[in-house]
Amino acid sequence: MSKMKAIILAGGKGTRMKSELPKVLHKVYDKCIIDYVCDACMEAGIKDQYVIVGHKSELVIDHLKDRNVTCCLQKEQLGTGHAVMQAEQYINDDDLILIVNGDMPLISPYTIKSFISFLELGNYDGALVSAVFDKTPAYGRIIRDSYGNLAKIVEQKDCNEEELAIEEVNIGLYCFKGKHLKESFKKLDNNNAQKEYYITDIPYHIINVGGRVGVYMIQDPDETQGINSRSDLSIVTRTLLTNTREKAMDNGVTLIDPSSTYISLNAKIGKDTIIYPGTNIQGKTTIGENCVIGPNCHIISSTIGNNCIVETSKVDLSSISDNCKIGPFAHLRPNTKVDANCKVGAFVETKNSNIGEGTKVPHLTYVGDSDIGKNVEVACGVITANMNIKWEKNRTTIKDGAFIGCNSTLLAPVTIEENAIVAAGSVINENVPSDSLAISRPKQTTKVGYLKK
Ligand code: UD1
Ligand code: CA
Repeated sequence: MSKMKAIILAGGKGTRMKSELPKVLHKVYDKCIIDYVCDACMEAGIKDQYVIVGHKSELVIDHLKDRNVTCCLQKEQLGTGHAVMQAEQYINDDDLILIVNGDMPLISPYTIKSFISFLELGNYDGALVSAVFDKTPAYGRIIRDSYGNLAKIVEQKDCNEEELAIEEVNIGLYCFKGKHLKESFKKLDNNNAQKEYYITDIPYHIINVGGRVGVYMIQDPDETQGINSRSDLSIVTRTLLTNTREKAMDNGVTLIDPSSTYISLNAKIGKDTIIYPGTNIQGKTTIGENCVIGPNCHIISSTIGNNCIVETSKVDLSSISDNCKIGPFAHLRPNTKVDANCKVGAFVETKNSNIGEGTKVPHLTYVGDSDIGKNVEVACGVITANMNIKWEKNRTTIKDGAFIGCNSTLLAPVTIEENAIVAAGSVINENVPSDSLAISRPKQTTKVGYLKK
């Protein structure tokens, strides 16, 4: 079996974006263009990935640093053919090389897999994907011979009138046998309108020496839309969001107003969950069944269990178990873990904390770097003061069944043991043993009749 590798082209300037940022680092909703392409290849089973970087390569390399990909530097951007050649040292004769434009984020793993099967079943030496759009974009045209086989691709800028009228275009996804690909490198030149080395000349060179190149025509052109301009970016974003909304609804989720509900490609939402308007669900978020989310929630790479209510709140890199009620106006900052049957209410901010089963933090409280046990009651206006004057963070521990009275400050590091009570208005800087009452506030003085004197 030949080894499958992917070369992802991401070295271009992206001039038409009019941006300081390299094109592939622009986001489609919540994720960079290049990440969609790498993830799609990965999901199609191609782990061996080579990304061609060039324009502002430092930024792209830095962005990709947590991925297991090899970056190949294209020092000068001399065209897409020249870009592929930068990975030549990684191409073996019996490899199968998938090449994909890095500016085509909606390409699906399913299409990539079907395309590879098409090449294998047809026993082709190379293949490419074509599409017909409602309005023909400024893409390379697919020129076929009198038998209907591929003859060559002609870039729009190099087309004569007859070629311009062709509606079938090259979408920028190719696959070649390593040997044929490397042979064709020697024949690439830049005798064309843009004075560039075109990848689109490679099929012609393979055909010219008797090789066979297949054309896989895709039915749904939407996923092959490339991004060259801000306008393309908005079109692709709209397509993505339409798809994710449809998928959620197909899976039994109610969207009160789909057009004001934004769902990432990587989100999973359980059936009978209802989402109210103004809600953004981003990253790898999982929401269970039978939840009510929104209006106006922002949920980022978080997990929410079944039967939860999350109203007008932000949940960032956190997890919430079943039967919880969050908000309105709660802010769960990264690494908050809320167990089942909890309430985290209005104007409560949490961070890097564990909140145990059945615990209630209903209003106006800050919980930072804390471990709160089960069935704890945190009354209104409690602060876990996690930072000391040396800017060091310390933890607060509140054990099962404790009660923290209103407007108390817990100076970390400090532990409140099981079933202890902290009286309202206390500043606690010593541990409180179990079943004890801690009270730390000035004694009240009442001057009777003072105002009548
Ligand atoms: C390319 C195709 C065209 C196709 C269209 C589909 C060529 C010559 N033309 O045109 O047939 O219809 O895509 O969208 O390939 N890149 C580099 N180095 C370079 C130049 C480009 O890495 O020197 C990368 C870009 O970052 C981009 C990709 O290659 O991700 C495609 O380049 P782009 O300039 O967008 O090609 P198009 O003109 O769109
Ligand atoms: Ca392009």
